[in-house]
Amino acid sequence: MNTINHAPVMLVTGSAKRIGAAIIRTAHQQGYRVIIHANSSAQQAQSLADALNNKCPDSARLLIANLTVINTKASLQAFVDDIIAAFGQIDVLVHNASRFYPTPFGDIDDEQWDELFLSNAKAPLLLSQALLPYLQAQQGCIISLLDIHAHDKPFNGYSVYNMAKAAQRTMVQSLALELAPLVRVNGVAPGVNILPETDSDQALDQAQQNRIISSIPMRRIGTPEDIAQSVLYLAKASYITGQIISVDGGRSLTLAGGSY
Ligand SMILES: NC(=O)c1ccc[n+]([C@@H]2O[C@H](COP(=O)([O-])OP(=O)(O)OC[C@H]3O[C@@H](n4cnc5c(N)ncnc54)[C@H](OP(=O)(O)O)[C@@H]3O)[C@@H](O)[C@H]2O)c1
Repeated sequence: MNTINHAPVMLVTGSAKRIGAAIIRTAHQQGYRVIIHANSSAQQAQSLADALNNKCPDSARLLIANLTVINTKASLQAFVDDIIAAFGQIDVLVHNASRFYPTPFGDIDDEQWDELFLSNAKAPLLLSQALLPYLQAQQGCIISLLDIHAHDKPFNGYSVYNMAKAAQRTMVQSLALELAPLVRVNGVAPGVNILPETDSDQALDQAQQNRIISSIPMRRIGTPEDIAQSVLYLAKASYITGQIISVDGGRSLTLAGGSY
């Protein structure tokens, strides 16, 4: 077991809650030092960092930033400086932050395009590029959270989200080629692993949830921990690059595309 000062460092974007927080907790349990990143969920992120630092002093740091920081060279550099200042290194970069909402064709505007592409494609690309020297120094890896709907089976009414996640999927494969052999790049594609929050406009009623469960061969909604285990597996899988693991209870086998 590494002592904490020598433990590898993992940054997970958008990790105050839900799947991102599960990845952080699992990595921490497995001996990583963690950098929690949040934008609007600063309080939840602080509670998570406090809980982890109570378990193991100086093992978790917190960064608050809107990923729009990647839009200018100066603010991207300042963000990278903050990331590296946390522990002096980064071994695993996990692109988890995401926006997800429908964009019915006919009403698509620039703002939706920018927001959905920022979190799901542009920030993963430019943040990976900016952190590359540090990842190379550690022979580290990049792991992207994708979606089983990013490939062949788009969500109906979500064209901009589908396009952005498909771009990130192609980024994984492109960078795996370009960054080998020093840095590995892989993806995890959830199916339905945690439902939209009940107070959000994406919330699903019981009938919709039952329909989803009956379409999943494993007969349950996945858990954030199911995703986290796969991310941690890829973080350590030293001969795997350019791969995308679907963690969906078999749903992609039965999926016809369309909607939930
Ligand atoms: N949930 C699922 O079952 C499912 C299914 C398929 C794919 N996925 C993928 O798995 C990943 C995690 O899913 P999730 O449902 O846990 O994600 P989520 O709750 O929808 O989003 C995670 C976080 O992303 C952050 N974020 C969004 N835009 C940002 C921006 N501009 N700057 C900084 N942070 C931003 C938010 O941080 P703040 O709250 O701090 O603002 C949010 O908490 C995502 O990439 C998602 O696309 C999930």
